[in-house]
Amino acid sequence: MSFPIAVLASGRGSNLAALIDARAAGGLQIDIVLVASDKAEAPALRNAEAHAIPTLGLDPKSFASRREFDEALFANVAASGAQLVVLAGYMRIIDAGVIAQWPGRMINIHPSLLPKYPGLHTHRRALKAGDLQHGASVHFVSAELDGGPVIAQAHIDIHPGDTEDALAARLLSQEHRLLVACVDAIARGTVREHDGTVLFNGAPLSMPLRLNASGSLIAP
Ligand code: GRF
Repeated sequence: MSFPIAVLASGRGSNLAALIDARAAGGLQIDIVLVASDKAEAPALRNAEAHAIPTLGLDPKSFASRREFDEALFANVAASGAQLVVLAGYMRIIDAGVIAQWPGRMINIHPSLLPKYPGLHTHRRALKAGDLQHGASVHFVSAELDGGPVIAQAHIDIHPGDTEDALAARLLSQEHRLLVACVDAIARGTVREHDGTVLFNGAPLSMPLRLNASGSLIAP
């Protein structure tokens, strides 16, 4: 049986596309039961429609508060039967009370080596700091922005003369592999969260897993 997931995306949706492609290639045993967005015009919704995946676009401005918006959104997510919610370029902060209803069942992909650079402009900040390495993280979602326990990271080198755009583009292909690997691990049950700790094959992780060159997650 395939593992049911919902994906939330606000824009382009290349991470969603990576999940759709991995599923189509047969390597990822998931069923994408819903793609939802806070932007009705998000390209991610159009891609989902093209693949006959159910979609939902909800406008935050039609709701009196963040809480009401998130409760409506996540009522739809729950009704979809999703066992996991994947935030893939979802650019809205989610109400803490709603997050608490999905313990260990919501993950986010973030373009930095967390805990470095939570929030926006991560590539710019890594370049400005003179970092030699950059990367992406997939983490379980907690009430703290980009602050939940990190499952795994992909690392890339920063080259002399790198621009923000070049770095972002080089990282994006690694993000796609990282997200597919993490969703696969959760679907297979090799990764889960317990009391704020990531368990890998049942044992607590003290450091995030690493994505290796063949796209597998390995212990650090
Ligand atoms: C990615 O860089 C992701 O890490 C960040 O937002 C971007 C979304 O890209 N959270 P896409 O919409 O999946 O193409």
